Amino acid sequence: MNASSQLSHPLRSQRLNQVTHEPHSKLDNLVKSHDPFGSPERFSHFVAAQYLFQRDLEKLYNDPELIKLVPDLPQRCRVEQARLDLADLNRALPEGDDSIRNTTMGTGEALAWLFVSEGSKLGAAFLLKRMPALGLSETFGARHLGEPEGGRAQGWKAFTAVLDSVELDAEQERLAEAAAIAAFERFTVHLERCFA
Ligand code: HEM
Repeated sequence: MNASSQLSHPLRSQRLNQVTHEPHSKLDNLVKSHDPFGSPERFSHFVAAQYLFQRDLEKLYNDPELIKLVPDLPQRCRVEQARLDLADLNRALPEGDDSIRNTTMGTGEALAWLFVSEGSKLGAAFLLKRMPALGLSETFGARHLGEPEGGRAQGWKAFTAVLDSVELDAEQERLAEAAAIAAFERFTVHLERCFA
């Protein structure tokens, strides 16, 4: 039995939430284990991981077919904010690889990767509260955690409405779930590399 057949949620966004619950809490614990709020320098390693993850997804955020589904998609990408944050923090840009950028994905997989990136904006509200203690803010060093235009809740609602309305066959559905898990694994790899 595969994961999806055990799940009962009618909405795809809820199913993706469910399959990524464990990876999310593992990642949350991993982030905290690296003491990212200990100093601006420690925080810069977390930003470097965010930069690499946004760099992975930059092409998807600018994909014409996906923009037909989510018109404000390009503005949602935070690669530029992360790049500026790293400059603010005097941390060199980490070297990325193109393995994800060069992967051809179906619509379900692409939306699942974006689901993880867009979802991380919800947690970002909590992280932002820790920034004043580091002398950072959504205009300096922590721009990528800033409130998106129109608000976090609204941005998330609009994204999940699209995610939930796209028709996928059973194989695409399975690939989408695997992709959401792969996205968390990828972020974990970036995090370990950047804190090493
Ligand atoms: C790369 C992906 C992600 C990263 C690095 C990430 C990181 C985090 C971290 C570190 C926290 C803890 C904040 C705190 O308690 O101080 C958090 C909380 C949260 N995250 Fe994520 N997250 C990611 C993806 C997602 C996704 C996909 C969703 C939703 C589907 C999500 C929803 C939330 C929510 C609602 C919280 C608030 C606290 C809670 O309910 O546990 N995150 N995230």
